[in-house]
Amino acid sequence: MRIDVITLFPELFAAHLRTSLLGRAVAAGVIEVEVHDLRAHGLGAHRSVDDTTYGGGAGMVMRPKPIFEAVEAVAEPEAHVVLLSARGARLHQRALERLASRSRLILICGRYEGVDERVALHLADEELSIGDYVLAGGELPALVVIEGVSRLLRGVLGNADSLGLESHSGGLLEYPQYTRPAVYRGWAVPEVLLSGDHGAVERWRVEEAERITRLRRPDLLE
Ligand SMILES: C[S@@+](CC[C@H](N)C(=O)[O-])C[C@H]1O[C@@H](n2cnc3c(N)ncnc32)[C@H](O)[C@@H]1O
Repeated sequence: MRIDVITLFPELFAAHLRTSLLGRAVAAGVIEVEVHDLRAHGLGAHRSVDDTTYGGGAGMVMRPKPIFEAVEAVAEPEAHVVLLSARGARLHQRALERLASRSRLILICGRYEGVDERVALHLADEELSIGDYVLAGGELPALVVIEGVSRLLRGVLGNADSLGLESHSGGLLEYPQYTRPAVYRGWAVPEVLLSGDHGAVERWRVEEAERITRLRRPDLLE
């Protein structure tokens, strides 16, 4: 899969794209991420990318021309264009699975007071929000999408089983997990996990996943 990112701050991506799971996926060529500096398409001597809001109001809005041109410079017919936006549909695991099935994604990161509406109307295929809060820019949301999508791609996770059992993949939150030691500061690991009885462990995990989901996210059970 190839992902192109359009941003005013390309430097925010470098460390994340070279580190850990994502770094290995990039190094192995499972995912290719190209980060493009929107400023290269800015207007005039100052490479301006923003302007005041029609109708008045505080703050600056990102102009459409640099964004359209930046996207058109990398777009291919199969590319799916996502605008990161606090007004977008809320990102969830199903959306990541849908995005992971694409061969090309283009992620547009907003800044300032946001992006000229014509980008959402005539350039982006969808607007996605990573949650009901407002950040200063779309770069962290874009990294959330990149990391969430990349761990769904074949060959990225060492053990593909971990995908099947984790929170949000099967409609439940994950059951509790423990590792050594069996007793830490007097807190013991549930006995069933030490029993060696795989059937009992499986039943305990399903019950715990249901209990935790009912407690924390009853909406998921509906
Ligand atoms: C300060 S925000 C603009 C917020 C905008 N004025 C509003 O009320 O929706 C600047 C940029 O950060 C990004 N952003 C902020 N919060 C986000 C969120 N929850 N999800 C995705 N992107 C977000 C978007 O790209 C947005 O254009």
